[in-house]
Order: sequence, then structure tokens, then C-alpha cells
Amino acid sequence: MSNLHEMKKLVVLTGAGMSAESGLRTFRDMGGLWEEHDVYEVASPGGWQRDRAMVLRFYDERRKQLLETHPNQGHLGLVELEKDFEVWIVTQNVDDLHERAGSTRILHLHGELRKSRSTADPELVYDIDGWELKEGDLCEKGSQLRPNVVWFGEAVPAIEEAARVVSRADIFVIIGTSMNVYPAAGLINYVPEHVPIFIIDPNEVPVAGHPRIRVIRKKAGEGVLKFTEEIKDA
Ligand code: APR
Repeated sequence: MSNLHEMKKLVVLTGAGMSAESGLRTFRDMGGLWEEHDVYEVASPGGWQRDRAMVLRFYDERRKQLLETHPNQGHLGLVELEKDFEVWIVTQNVDDLHERAGSTRILHLHGELRKSRSTADPELVYDIDGWELKEGDLCEKGSQLRPNVVWFGEAVPAIEEAARVVSRADIFVIIGTSMNVYPAAGLINYVPEHVPIFIIDPNEVPVAGHPRIRVIRKKAGEGVLKFTEEIKDA
């Protein structure tokens, strides 16, 4: 048995592919459209200004879908790794599947679907009971609540903390992200020199110029198992 201060820090960056086997559809899976609206437009400050009801409905639908899904083998495999590593999860996902699986150190870069926040004070964040967030749902100061997610074109407040976590990694693992969306994709540049990097993804992920990368070309579930075997033998 290892004790905590001897444990290596395993930092895992996850994206939409992590939740694919749970059946969650991503923006890209939707072909970029929702009820004939461009999803990138729906998930933006402009969309909110133009049509709040539409944006709220869009996220209600995502939330409803989330409540019907469960963590998959990949999420559960990351929880198992906490027995041997100090596991930090930096996720781009707004779902709560890492939490529900039982992971204990989770940073949400792009917010959390099951939380709302005040449009007047970003510090006022609340759990959403059930799936619905309505026009007229107000914070304690009387302002409309919005989904607590980072929209396209908005800042990513958690990125600095995420960069600090990544810069202390002993092992870095990337699971199910196309590494297309910044600033999240730039986190790889904070991985210390000589720290091994693993990529778990059934498709090719374009991260150039990193000679220490080991690619496990599998879906998250099987890929985490394979990674676990490899790291135990290392
Ligand atoms: N297991 C692992 N990876 C998978 C699986 C699977 N079962 N299925 C697909 N993938 C991989 C794809 O090959 C791809 O590389 O998951 C990745 C998903 O990439 P994107 O759809 O681009 O998702 P992500 O990188 O999380 O997107 C980043 O963009 O949509 C916005 O804000 C949203 O957080 C999101 C951000």
C-alpha cells in the first residue's frame, strides 16, 4: 500500500469522448445543429441576448439527457487509479459523470450542466434540482439565473488552476478530446519535461512535437484498462 505523500500525481485531461460510451451526444455528433439552430450560436452570449428561452431549452434538454445516463467503465477505471495515484481530473465536459463515478479531484474547465449561476454575480452558483432552469428563476439578489457553463467566446476562469495542476503532473493522460478547443488544448504545454504523456482515443489526435507520447488507440473504457496495466508494469 502506498501512502498519499508518496503517491505520484496522475493528471488526466478529459473531453467529450470520455462520456461517449455513456451515450452522451456532443455538439460535433449533432452535426452542429439543434432544432435548426447552430449549436455554437446557442451556446454563446449572443444567443442568450437574442433568445434566452431558446438557450434555456437547449440546456434543459442536455440536462434531461444527462440524468438518464451513467458513468461508463472509463470513468470507473479512473476512480480505481486513485488507489495507486493522486489522480487529478481536468475535464472539458459539463456532465457530472466523473463525480458520480466517485473521482475526488475534479476541475471543470467549461462549467457544470447541473449548476446555475447568477447573471449579475458569477460567484453565486447553485445546484439545479432536476432538469429545468426557467426564465424567472432568480439568484438571491434577484437576477436571472443562467446555465453555469462557459459559452463560446467567454473566458475560462479555471484555466489557471488547471495549468498549475498540470505543471505538477508526474504522468499526464489525455482521454477523448480532439485537442481543438483552446485554452484547454494548450494545457499540454504545461506538462513538465520528462513526464510521460498518454493519449487514449480511438481516432488520431493531432498533438505535434511531443516525443514522449504513448498512444493507446482505444475507446475510453478499454483504453483506461490498458493504461492501468501498462502503468503498473512500468
Ligand atoms: N472513447 C474515447 N475517445 C473517443 C470516443 C470514445 N468512446 N469516441 C470518440 N472519441 C474521441 C474522438 O476521436 C475525438 O478525438 O473523442 C474526441 C472528441 O472530440 P470533440 O468532439 O472535439 O470534444 P472535445 O475535445 O471535448 O471538445 C472540446 O468543445 O464542444 C466544445 O466546449 C465543448 O468541451 C467541449 C470542447
